[in-house]
Amino acid sequence: MEHKSNRYDDFALQYAKLVAAREEAGIEHDPIMPRFLKLLGDVSGLLTLDAGCGEGYVSRILARQGARVTGIDIAASLIEIARAKDPEGTISFQVADLSQPLPTYQNHFDLIVSHLVLNDVYDYRGFLTTLGAVARSGGRLVLSLNNPYSYVVRGHITNYFESGKAFPYRGMAEEGVKVHFYQRTLEEYLDACLSAGFQLQHLLDIPTPEGTFKRRSDTLLPVGYQFPFFMILSLRKP
Ligand SMILES: C[S@@+](CC[C@H](N)C(=O)[O-])C[C@H]1O[C@@H](n2cnc3c(N)ncnc32)[C@H](O)[C@@H]1O
Repeated sequence: MEHKSNRYDDFALQYAKLVAAREEAGIEHDPIMPRFLKLLGDVSGLLTLDAGCGEGYVSRILARQGARVTGIDIAASLIEIARAKDPEGTISFQVADLSQPLPTYQNHFDLIVSHLVLNDVYDYRGFLTTLGAVARSGGRLVLSLNNPYSYVVRGHITNYFESGKAFPYRGMAEEGVKVHFYQRTLEEYLDACLSAGFQLQHLLDIPTPEGTFKRRSDTLLPVGYQFPFFMILSLRKP
């Protein structure tokens, strides 16, 4: 199975419903966001790109903290929802494929965030190259992603090295969001980040204790074992 573009556009309303439930539950119940925000620190006044912003969840959080946010996503239907959720127009939401160059913003952003996007991007090297070009010198890129090792542990895939293949997200499919991720190795992701001109500053393993996710019968994780399902990479453009 090979897809060159992902299909969030076809499931925008269902995806927005999932995010709304996450937002309503509060940041403290989100396994990733508290650590993500702690790592970001003070964002007020920072020219910030939310790369793969979806319906604007992270953009709204950062705008409330005083960041000057541009949210970009390839899915036009999600951008439409994002704009509707920001009636004051505080955030600049735009539709673009971030795997393609974005010359308007060359060396522009102080901070780039990308929350749970990288696994879903077909041309991940193009995506990181674009982010490298639009970050200013000294700017940061903070990415959260599904830990590529965890896809094996969780029974999503059987071969960690089957790089580039698309697989369905099973949990999201059950909620009507029939999208997929691309398996890539951590080695490939890191190589793409470094080739795009970033330097790695931190790698955070995000704990996902029992109960964070529905336990599946084919999980390789015995009851009581813990494994990080997500990670955060924090990088800097010298
Ligand atoms: C799991 S969603 C995350 C959305 C948002 N960051 C959030 O936290 O809710 C992944 C997003 O990546 C976007 N995406 C995938 N490939 C992209 C690309 N090449 N350029 C821009 N956005 C992309 C999808 O459209 C989708 O909105």
